[in-house]
Amino acid sequence: MAAHTYTDNDIYLAADFLKANVPAELYPKVGVICGSGLGGLAGSLENTVEFKYEEIPGFPVSTVAGHAGKLVFGLISGKPTVCMVGRFHFYEGHLLKLTVLPVRVMSLMGVETLFVTNAAGSLNHEKCKVGDIMIIEDHINIPGMAGNNPLIGANLSSFGPRFPPVNDAYPRELRSLAIRAARELDIRQYIREGVYCFVSGPSYESPAEARMMRALGGDVIGMSTVPEVVVARHCGMKVLGFSLVTNFVVTRRERTADEESPEFSLPPEDNVETPNHEEVLAVGNMRSNDMQNLVKKIVELM
Ligand code: HPA
Repeated sequence: MAAHTYTDNDIYLAADFLKANVPAELYPKVGVICGSGLGGLAGSLENTVEFKYEEIPGFPVSTVAGHAGKLVFGLISGKPTVCMVGRFHFYEGHLLKLTVLPVRVMSLMGVETLFVTNAAGSLNHEKCKVGDIMIIEDHINIPGMAGNNPLIGANLSSFGPRFPPVNDAYPRELRSLAIRAARELDIRQYIREGVYCFVSGPSYESPAEARMMRALGGDVIGMSTVPEVVVARHCGMKVLGFSLVTNFVVTRRERTADEESPEFSLPPEDNVETPNHEEVLAVGNMRSNDMQNLVKKIVELM
């Protein structure tokens, strides 16, 4: 697929179209980006109005199986909310600026709090088990540090400053609220907090890369979310992020001294199964109700 061309004007094309077609009482204050297998979140909305991405001028179209591709406007406990069902990934060949366009559009429509969800692989096998939901407390932006930050280029100063901070991207009050909501729903035992590491994909990590990311402080790893969060922070939004742990990343242990010796030089075996997209979607489906209820409950408590 050829990369979609992009100009900053596409942000305004999309926002103007949506403002003209969404009833004013549904202009959202809360935005939700639904990750792999988590599109069911949009089912929590009432009085919905929805738009397929291809109907929205300026919008890219998502190409990954399991990502439906629509914006759903509606109410959660009376609060106007928009759900993005299916997001855009850098690995699809989109410009990074295009992958984050919906976040800017949400900002123009009035979104102040953004929930981001994703499927992620666990690097920290002790802490983050398959089926756990990790509240993102911080991130590592590997492509960003290597020159692929969505804010590179002329600053869109009507949205935010040239050099926005991200140390406060995931405010503590929102993370505390998430824990409170999880307690009320009796799912606190599946909740972790930790560091999300963003890589471009689409190939999964090699074991040496996974050990490196673990050594650098990553608890889970995935191919989305961080560019959206950086842009949300640029727009002055508050962010609450959740990673649903869908698989263990193969980290393969180091060789022991015995294994290094000439008499006994068997290569070490992989410690966990090879990850695959079907498994990611299956765990997403298994936990999507919990994730849906969690987001709903937090919006209620907000
Ligand atoms: N690695 C990267 N991205 C992912 C993974 C993974 O293991 N699982 C789900 N998204």
